[in-house]
Amino acid sequence: MKAIIPVAGVGTRLRPHTFSHPKVLLNVAGKPIIGHIMDKLIASGIDEAIVIVGYLGDMVEKWLRAHYSIKFTFVTQTELLGLAHAIWMCKPYIIKDEPLFIILGDTIFDVDLESVLKSPVSTLGVKEVEDPRRFGVAVTDGEKILKLVEKPDTPVSNLAIVGLYFLQRAGSLFASIDHLIDNGIRTKGEYQLTDALQFMIEGGEPFTTFPVHGWYDCGKPETLLATNEILLKNNVATKTFPGCIINDPVFIADSAVLENAIIGPYTTIGEQAVITNVIIRNSIIGYNARVAHIMLDHSIVGNNAFITGSSQEINIGDYSEIRVG
Ligand code: UTP
Repeated sequence: MKAIIPVAGVGTRLRPHTFSHPKVLLNVAGKPIIGHIMDKLIASGIDEAIVIVGYLGDMVEKWLRAHYSIKFTFVTQTELLGLAHAIWMCKPYIIKDEPLFIILGDTIFDVDLESVLKSPVSTLGVKEVEDPRRFGVAVTDGEKILKLVEKPDTPVSNLAIVGLYFLQRAGSLFASIDHLIDNGIRTKGEYQLTDALQFMIEGGEPFTTFPVHGWYDCGKPETLLATNEILLKNNVATKTFPGCIINDPVFIADSAVLENAIIGPYTTIGEQAVITNVIIRNSIIGYNARVAHIMLDHSIVGNNAFITGSSQEINIGDYSEIRVG
């Protein structure tokens, strides 16, 4: 089955890291965000992916083609006009009567996808959230979806739509997006996928929901670190390092060099990183970063960055150079 994966966004909330890398290639628990997603999709029977790229799209395409051998089609969305618009750009590559799975490229999930892909009706992944105002939400009768509302100002439901969509028939969704675009129907300035799905529901198409218990947001520094912590849960270091104490769970790349360090728990150390005389926990350290004489907690250090000094909480991008006194 085909999956559409939209990843055209700029990832502003993850700056400075997204100045030099697309969000989906940021490392979490030892591999890029999109790597976690692809592994699950392929294990569940997805054999073709249409990836909507935009900002730093060449890097995404290069990485995916180098790491996976399924069929890829890359579609470029030059203007970020919303998720429905992004998906609409895939129209030439879709077969109307085939089912279709859509997953946001920054949503790492833990769900029985094989069963979802066999659903006899269209179904949307949902999760109960405390504050639904920043999500599209589903109002249900306990089974069927009655209506969808994008970012509700009043609390109509706390079932947030979290970025996994299974459509029984791709053609109905594309007809619905055509309707939005032909009539210029935007919400909060964008062509919203929620609005397209709501139009299908109004047209009589049945939709159900499926629970996404494991939903790991990677959109902001604090959620990226929280996701790193959850995904590392059972990970242990594969080798020992001179003068180091490793508190699992951690991910330490094989080519990383560590000396006189206390690492972990919940720490990812990228390839070729050089780490000396440090205490680091709950953090992500990028490729070829150099970290020395410092204590870091809840920190993200970009690729090729260099930091030396004393105890801090930081969030620095690629190629940064910081000397704390
Ligand atoms: P987000 O709005 O959460 O991601 O869109 P973003 O734009 O990358 O991040 P911020 O808000 O600037 O920090 C959710 C997903 O939908 C894709 C994004 O790439 C992301 O994977 N998307 C969104 C598109 O591909 N095109 C769009 O027009 C909108």
